[in-house]
Amino acid sequence: VTRPLIAPSLLAADFARLGEEVEAIAKAGADWLHLDVMDGHFVPNISFGPQVVKALRPYSTLPFDVHLMIEPADPYLEAFAKAGADHILIHIEAGPHSHRSLQIIRALGAKPGIVLCPATPPEAVSEILDMVDIILVMTVNPGFGGQKFLTSQLSKIRRLREMITESGRSIRLAVDGGIDPQTAPLALDAGADVLIAGSAIYAQPDYAAAIEALRPPVLA
Ligand code: DX5
Ligand code: ZN
Repeated sequence: VTRPLIAPSLLAADFARLGEEVEAIAKAGADWLHLDVMDGHFVPNISFGPQVVKALRPYSTLPFDVHLMIEPADPYLEAFAKAGADHILIHIEAGPHSHRSLQIIRALGAKPGIVLCPATPPEAVSEILDMVDIILVMTVNPGFGGQKFLTSQLSKIRRLREMITESGRSIRLAVDGGIDPQTAPLALDAGADVLIAGSAIYAQPDYAAAIEALRPPVLA
C-alpha cells in the first residue's frame, strides 16, 4: 500500500485568516487542501463559494480538493474549475444525473470525484467507476466538522477498495469525517488512501505534528 495522503479541511481553520491558514498547512506537510462548500440546502450549513476558492488559489500550489455539498451542482461546476479547483467532488445523492456532472467536470479539466453519504451503499457508484479519479466515503453525515466517526462505514470502504481493484483503474479512496489518530488506522486498514481531517489538524496547536500523527508509522 502506498503512503496515504493527508488532506486538511479548511472548515476547521480560522476564517478570519484563511490565506495564512492555507500557507501554514502547506508548510506543515499537507498533501491536498480540502475545501468544503455547503449551500444550506443539500446540507444544513453554509460555508463559502467559488469566490473564496479563487481568492485562496495564490496562497498555495497544493491540489485544491473541492467537496461540493450543493444541490444542484451543475450550474456552479465551471465557476469552481475557473476558481482553481484541481479536484471537484459531487455527491451522488445531490441529483439523478451525476454521470452528466462527472462528464462536465472532466471536460472542464478538473479531476472528477464522487461522494457517498453514510446511508448510500457502495454499489451506487458501480456504473460510474470508469469516470471518477476519487471516491470519497463520508464517515459522518455531511454538514459539520467535529462529529463522531461512524464505524459502520468501514465495510463500505472495504467493498469500494475491492471494486476499485477489480476496475483496474487508479482511483483514490478518501474518507471524510471524524478522522483523528484513533480512527485513521481503521480507515487505512479498510483500504482508504486519502485522509481528510478538519478538527484533528486545524484545531490543534502544531499543524505539522497533527498531520504526522495521522500517518501510519514507517516500518524500518
Ligand atoms: C463535513 C465535511 C468535512 C469536515 C470534517 O461535512 O465534509 O470535510 O470538515 O471535519 P472533521 O474532521 O472535524 O470531522
Ligand atoms: Zn469534506
